[in-house]
Amino acid sequence: MIEIRLAEITDLPKVAQLVALSFHPGGGWQALWRSFVQLGIEQDLRDRWQRERPHYHCWLAVLSTGRSTLCVGSVEVQLREIKGKPKPYLSNLAVHPDYRRRGIGRRLLHTVEASLCATYSDLYLHVLAQNEAAQQLYARCGFEVVEEGFTFWRERKLLLRKSLVGDRPYSPSAMSSWV
Ligand SMILES: CC(C)(COP(=O)(O)OP(=O)(O)OC[C@H]1O[C@@H](n2cnc3c(N)ncnc32)[C@H](O)[C@@H]1OP(=O)(O)O)[C@@H](O)C(=O)NCCC(=O)NCCS
Repeated sequence: MIEIRLAEITDLPKVAQLVALSFHPGGGWQALWRSFVQLGIEQDLRDRWQRERPHYHCWLAVLSTGRSTLCVGSVEVQLREIKGKPKPYLSNLAVHPDYRRRGIGRRLLHTVEASLCATYSDLYLHVLAQNEAAQQLYARCGFEVVEEGFTFWRERKLLLRKSLVGDRPYSPSAMSSWV
């Protein structure tokens, strides 16, 4: 059974491990590199947690297996200035490679949307132009491209927006049947 819940500060090492694995998969020297990256990610998460709260949340998808729990998905949301106004901005959506294509990414997105739609009219995120899996997911969930740009590393990136007005994207009972 996979539960979606808000992270606590004690979850951050697990989130960093998941994000590092999701964005830097691979074995050999890449696994060694990943352990360094993971430390940086954990520090960034702690910084955002301390600096941005109460306008920062990290949501988790947690799989309970008897005595242990495994973090299989996560996503962060914070306020960020977009076109001169503070807007909810989603980042670091990550699903463990062994648990993909089971609707977890979509559940995380819909949970974030449901948590915001009473207060905010829209939700933004960036995706790399080459990230086809994520683009498919966001398109299916109703996001649209509003701007194109480049990262610091000169990779093409897209700014996506979803309107939350009049949108009640899920009911909890429907959500629990997705996985
Ligand atoms: C992108 C990511 C979060 C998707 O998570 P997921 O749990 O596998 O996504 P879901 O199962 O909810 O997929 C929902 C829909 O999105 C689309 N989709 C998801 N992954 C896809 C893929 N690899 N190829 C094509 N379409 C895909 C499909 O339409 C899918 O519906 P379907 O399975 O019924 O066809 C996951 O692949 C991931 O963690 N990738 C690495 C990190 C990353 O790129 N994050 C996004 C940063 S912007």
